[in-house]
Amino acid sequence: MKASKTTILTGIKPTGHPHVGNYAGMIKPALQLIEGNKGGRNHLFIANYHALNTMDRASELRQYTYEIAACFLALGLDLETTSFYRQSDVPEIFELTAVLASVTPKGLMNRAHAYKAKVEENLSKSNADRDDGVNMGLYTYPILMAADILLFDADVVPVGKDQVQHVEFARDIAGYFNRKFDTQFFKQPAHRVQADLEALPGVDGRKMSKSYGNTIPLFGDMSTARKLIKRIVTDSKPPAEPKDASSLSLYQIYRALADEDEAEDLKRRFEAGGLGYGEAKTILADKFEVLFEKPAKRYKDYLSDKGELERIMVTASRRARGQARCKIEAMRTLIGA
Ligand code: TRP
Repeated sequence: MKASKTTILTGIKPTGHPHVGNYAGMIKPALQLIEGNKGGRNHLFIANYHALNTMDRASELRQYTYEIAACFLALGLDLETTSFYRQSDVPEIFELTAVLASVTPKGLMNRAHAYKAKVEENLSKSNADRDDGVNMGLYTYPILMAADILLFDADVVPVGKDQVQHVEFARDIAGYFNRKFDTQFFKQPAHRVQADLEALPGVDGRKMSKSYGNTIPLFGDMSTARKLIKRIVTDSKPPAEPKDASSLSLYQIYRALADEDEAEDLKRRFEAGGLGYGEAKTILADKFEVLFEKPAKRYKDYLSDKGELERIMVTASRRARGQARCKIEAMRTLIGA
């Protein structure tokens, strides 16, 4: 019997500077899954065409794309064990998107959370059309994402909670194709959510997000990060008073960065009383520095030579491209194209 190898695949949209929320919700879990997938296959890619729906400045999209690439390289992504590519470097994805569109019912797209939310927002305004502000990129977003996933026979797709429906759609779409052509050609993927790391708070206590301006960038200079950490909102409890760690933004951010024992330790200290917010912020800032000071230097190095970074990415994408070509050739035979 053939040994079964697991294929893990995930994509990141380049829509901003990488921050601690991205790290906790997506970067760290993806790197950990890859690390644990010994002997299996891994795909990690930058979903720049997904970002196109919301981004309209070429220089910005290009810069954010390089930043994501530099981010993973700086954090030590192993290009031997992981196929790393920019979505646009694998045009087979877009060919597959066209084919999948032909088996996907429009009604399925109508049910997509992001589209529905936009329609509901429009309907709540008195004179807006239901589809105001909806481009076809947003509407067919789940088909492009299904193509990303199905092209590489992914078994497991690590995603944030908000992306679970998209992975379910990819399963459905694989099923539509397989039934239509009476085949098992596309594998049906499973999603994997890192449950307890959802919705990391930012320095103001709301969800950490670029749009709230409350993020802690991963690769800024260390003194800036320290200043931001000092600004994390707390209440006015004095150091001596016991505190409920899990309700504190400060603790939640620490837990996302530290290992389990370290997090437990800080939790106990908060609950016992005697640990003040100032001291805890120093502990968090020290942890941040241990994790990101060296990667931040590498990150800057990568970004200081875009020509070299471009070469690294193009070279890295060859593997995915080769694999994609084989799958697309087989698909064409199957569908008569
Ligand atoms: N839609 C995902 C997000 O917004 C990014 C993404 C695109 C993705 N294609 C993917 C994630 C394929 C996993 C698999 O975060």
